[in-house]
Amino acid sequence: MVVANWKMYKTLDEALAFLQAFPLEAEGVEDVEVVICPPFISLADFSRRLAGGSLILGAQNMHWEKEGAYTGEISPPMLRELGVRYVIIGHSERRNFFGESDRVVRNKVEAALTYGLFPILCLGENWDQFNNGQTQDVLKNQLLLALEKISPKGELIPNLVVAYEPIWAIGTGTPATGQTASDVAGYLRGLLKELLGGVADNIRILYGGSVNPENILEYVGKPDVDGALIGGSSLKAQSFAEMARAVSGERRG
Ligand code: PGA
Repeated sequence: MVVANWKMYKTLDEALAFLQAFPLEAEGVEDVEVVICPPFISLADFSRRLAGGSLILGAQNMHWEKEGAYTGEISPPMLRELGVRYVIIGHSERRNFFGESDRVVRNKVEAALTYGLFPILCLGENWDQFNNGQTQDVLKNQLLLALEKISPKGELIPNLVVAYEPIWAIGTGTPATGQTASDVAGYLRGLLKELLGGVADNIRILYGGSVNPENILEYVGKPDVDGALIGGSSLKAQSFAEMARAVSGERRG
């Protein structure tokens, strides 16, 4: 799967212009789930325009309660009503700029599964941690806390998506190597199996951090890497389509 995380980019007009251009650019893409996570204000329009098509809608965040006095927040049923399938949870920008704790991330993962949304749980270490060889410890800690309330028996576990997003690779133009991404994805797969059993084979693991059309195949298609979470390079229809086409071609072999 390829997931566009637009962050705080694109007014509604700009987002609609992308949507108009994209299908032509992405012609011939098969067997790849293509997900777009625009800012909240574009979700309703996208939902109407994407109905019946192959593009899938995602959100970048949500609250974990059904409703309540939480000024400025958006609830899981609000997203569901718009046909949103995926929701990014625990992105490092939310953790670092908005103080999102592991407890909050845990509540959101649980709520997403409960309300029938597919959480894309983001995990990642910073540069110092990477250099000090602490990547596995950091990710393990984040993963255990995020899944604390998830029962291994839960039928919805295959809906979970995990994204390895090293913080030092996000928006920096310095991605992890394909080997690092694959090694870390393999480590996460092992952890997920320990926690959840054989069903972990069905959980998709993504790599994110400075993915672009030139490097995407260094990641997607590597053992245990099932897709990419893409920020900056997903903002242009042509470049996002190029990545979807590359993955589609790779799948067809
Ligand atoms: P980037 O962002 O592709 O711009 O590095 C990835 C992300 O934050 O999900």
